[in-house]
Amino acid sequence: MKEVYTLEDLSSRAVLDAGADKPARLAVIGHPIAHSASPRMHQAALDACGVAARYIRVDVEPGHVAEAFERMRALGFIGCNVTVPHKLEAMLHCAVSPSAQALGAVNTLCFEGNEARGYNTDGPGFKNAIEHDFGLPLASLMVVILGAGGGAGQAIAAQCVMLGVPKLVVVNRSLEKLGPLLERLRALNSKTQVIALSLEDPALVKYALAAELVVNTSSVGLKAGDPSILPISCLKPEHLVYDTIYQPAVTPLLALAQAVDCRTSNGKSMLLHQGALAFQLWFPEAQPLSPMGKALGIT
Ligand code: ATR
Repeated sequence: MKEVYTLEDLSSRAVLDAGADKPARLAVIGHPIAHSASPRMHQAALDACGVAARYIRVDVEPGHVAEAFERMRALGFIGCNVTVPHKLEAMLHCAVSPSAQALGAVNTLCFEGNEARGYNTDGPGFKNAIEHDFGLPLASLMVVILGAGGGAGQAIAAQCVMLGVPKLVVVNRSLEKLGPLLERLRALNSKTQVIALSLEDPALVKYALAAELVVNTSSVGLKAGDPSILPISCLKPEHLVYDTIYQPAVTPLLALAQAVDCRTSNGKSMLLHQGALAFQLWFPEAQPLSPMGKALGIT
């Protein structure tokens, strides 16, 4: 058994399952992928549900997503998860569900016969995480998304608009990236008021202080020494602050928000909820939340 498999390992059952007591029938593909917590979480759910299958990591280089899908389908895989940088490439090689189309990315595949069907559980997983962690319906909140030009930010912004949040402020370092996103968001639901700002815009303070939920979807906070993406002047105690980063568990943004007395949470709950929703696409009767949460150390 390997920590990380390659495309070549998907050549036959004999190669793939050498030394394993159960067949690999689910996977996460990404590049790099060695760090992924998905196997820990999904294997716990498979074991708890009594499914004799393994969930593995497969390192797939950009440009090879179609081949990975085809090999997994031919080997009788139930499905797979798709992570960075393949969530857009995946859309080109499967039948994309309407909501994944609206969210602009695919993170979960179901192999059914000759078909590969693509779904997105990141958006609904974000909704469930916010509602579980803060106890409020996401649809009711005025939201600011920092780093909305990235892949995660775009999916979360689309999820907010599809739910009909009253007001959404999308913020990005480079404003140009928000143009196409704005058009997409406005076409999804004209009821949500959508405002785009650059991180440097002096009006950000005003918009941030008027919002209820602040979400960081940028990569700022991942690296040691990163600053908080938002200055303290943009935070107030009534804010709910969510950082999609979960390593470190307390990013500079969350540390600042906690100092201001905001309620905070991190991306581990989104990882959990998107994973549970993916698992239920493969096993509709399953209740995977509790074993998955335990495996991730969320009680
Ligand atoms: P992906 O699309 O894979 O999610 P990405 O394109 O690297 O990842 O996007 C990460 C997000 O973090 C983007 O919104 C990016 O802003 P830009 O679109 O302006 O590049 C944001 N980001 C990364 N480093 C940043 C920094 N030092 N300051 C502000 N925003 C940053």
